[in-house]
Amino acid sequence: MARIFSIMSGKGGVGKSTLCASLAEYYARKGKRVVLLDGDIGQRCEDLMLNMQDRVVYDLGDVADKTCKLEEAVLAHPALPGLSLLAAPQIMNPSDMKHKAMDKIITRLSEQADILLLDAPAGIGKGLRLLLGSTAEPVIVATPDDVSIRDAERLSALLAEKEEPRPSLVLNRVRPLWVRRGLIPPPDQLALTLDMPLMGVIPESQKIYKALLRHETALNCGDGKVEKAIEVIAARLLGADAPLPEYAPSAVLRFFNRGGEA
Ligand SMILES: Nc1ncnc2c1ncn2[C@@H]1O[C@H](COP(=O)(O)OP(=O)(O)OP(=O)(O)O)[C@@H](O)[C@H]1O
Ligand SMILES: [Mg+2]
Repeated sequence: MARIFSIMSGKGGVGKSTLCASLAEYYARKGKRVVLLDGDIGQRCEDLMLNMQDRVVYDLGDVADKTCKLEEAVLAHPALPGLSLLAAPQIMNPSDMKHKAMDKIITRLSEQADILLLDAPAGIGKGLRLLLGSTAEPVIVATPDDVSIRDAERLSALLAEKEEPRPSLVLNRVRPLWVRRGLIPPPDQLALTLDMPLMGVIPESQKIYKALLRHETALNCGDGKVEKAIEVIAARLLGADAPLPEYAPSAVLRFFNRGGEA
């Protein structure tokens, strides 16, 4: 039976899809059978992130309304054996998708994978709710600012209300120097505040956006710290004891509140 992770966030644009695509590539490289379900109905993006945009013929919506069979819509990655994608519909409203149909698709995908990754839409709307009630383990992605942290808290409360499993946390776009300068709290403190186990911390890196422009995942962005962070998250999600990097504020830098940009 597959491990199913649903990658979600309260606030939009925090890096869910980037993380999902990178984890998918990482696990596939490790020899796992991975399926990535782009669950962001109306806002397809994973095909672009995995450089599979020219291959998509059918999507999740077509499977749900029986225009095609599931096997026809699940696309094998051309270069990464073991990695498959089910693209999100581009022109569809989440309210046009039935929860039962989504559930059935998730179950069937999980039967053909070791790891099933669900890329959720942002927020707590209908699109996210379609992904609840499966056996997925929720992973909340947040950035280390008050807005994103508050939205993560709200999402976590919704999950508790719906009796979903306890979510784990990934912090993205963290600038280590800003932690040292006291501009943002240390990741472990944020995880403690949110009362979520911390799976990993991805540093801010322009190379991630450059990789996106090349239709490559962050795993190929050329920033060793980003690549390491994804490796750590992938390992910790599966229960391995991969250590998190140390991020501690520096009393000296805090005092002078300086240290240059990074
Ligand atoms: N650690 C990072 N450093 C710099 N840029 C990043 C980082 N992580 C993600 N980005 C950039 O942030 C943007 C948003 O990322 P992404 O699309 O993965 O977010 P999302 O949470 O899936 O958004 P949405 O809520 O719209 O689905 C992208 O341009 C991506 O390249
Ligand atoms: Mg996204």
